[in-house]
Amino acid sequence: MSEFHQEVTPLNRVVKEPSLTGGYIEYEDFDCSCDVLSSLLYTLFQQNWHQVGVGHIVQGGVLELEFPAAPKICILYDGYLTVVTESWHLHLCIEANLGGPHCKTPLELRKQRQVSRAAFYRRFNAEGIPRSWGIDFWNGASENLMTIFLPNPYVEGENLLPEGKPNLAKLELYEELRDIYVLGKKPIPFHTNPLKHPYISVCTSTRCLPSRKWQPIFDSLKAAVEKAGLDIEVRTSGCLEVCKLGPVVFYSEDKTWYTRVSPEVAENIVNEHLVQGKKIIEHYYPPVSKT
Ligand code: FES
Repeated sequence: MSEFHQEVTPLNRVVKEPSLTGGYIEYEDFDCSCDVLSSLLYTLFQQNWHQVGVGHIVQGGVLELEFPAAPKICILYDGYLTVVTESWHLHLCIEANLGGPHCKTPLELRKQRQVSRAAFYRRFNAEGIPRSWGIDFWNGASENLMTIFLPNPYVEGENLLPEGKPNLAKLELYEELRDIYVLGKKPIPFHTNPLKHPYISVCTSTRCLPSRKWQPIFDSLKAAVEKAGLDIEVRTSGCLEVCKLGPVVFYSEDKTWYTRVSPEVAENIVNEHLVQGKKIIEHYYPPVSKT
C-alpha cells in the first residue's frame, strides 16, 4: 500500500469562468488522488453530513439532495465510493474501477470513470460578491460528475436571509477545508485513508444463490475476527460481481474474493488468510488452476 501523506501539495490553479448573467464562477483545483479525495469525502459525508448537500447542476436543471441522517453506509469498493442514506444513494469513482474479480473494465473506461479533476468553487454575482460555495468533480472525459453544496451564509433552510444580514459563520467549513485541500496550510486530519480501513464482507444479494444463507457466514466471520483480535470490520454488502457460487466473501485489503463459503470456510479465511496471510486456494475466485 502506498504511503499516506497528510500534506496536500497546492496546485495553484485558479480558473474563472464568466457567466452570461454578468457574474462568474471561480474554481480552485486541488489534488484528486484517492487518499486526498477519500479524506475530504469522508469528512463531508460521514462527519459533516448535516451541513452539506450533494447533486448536479447543468443549465436548465439542478438536483440537490440533503442527508436526512448520517449515512448508513460509506464504503470504497472497486474504486467507487458508495454512500447510502435512508432514502437515496450515490456512487463516485475515486480510484481505478477494475471491474470485479475478472478485471472487466477496459483501461479507457477506467480513465473515463475516475475523478480526474476536483475544485472548490465560489459563484460571484455581477457585483463581484461571492454568493455560493461548493466543490465540483469531473471525470476523465471532462464531464461534470457531481457537485457538493457547502453551507451558504445567505440561506437558512429554504429561505434567503435579508440582504446585508448573512450568517458568515456558515463559511467555517469551506474555509477549513480550503486551507487543507487547496492551500495545503493545514494537514489532512487523518493518519491513514479513512475509506480504506480493512473490511471483510459477505454478499447478501440474491443472484449468487445460495447467498440468502449469508447470515451464518457473517456470524462466523464476526466471531473469528473478534477471537483473533483483528481490527477488521465485518460487514454485509450488495453484489460483489461474482453472482454465482455463493455465499461470496470479499476481503478489501488485498482484494480477494471467495466463493462457496460455509461457516467453517469463513473461520478458515480469518485464521489462515487474515491472520497468517495464506489464501484459501480451494475457495479463491477466479478459481486457481491446479496444473
Ligand atoms: S449477487 Fe452476490 S456476488 Fe453478485
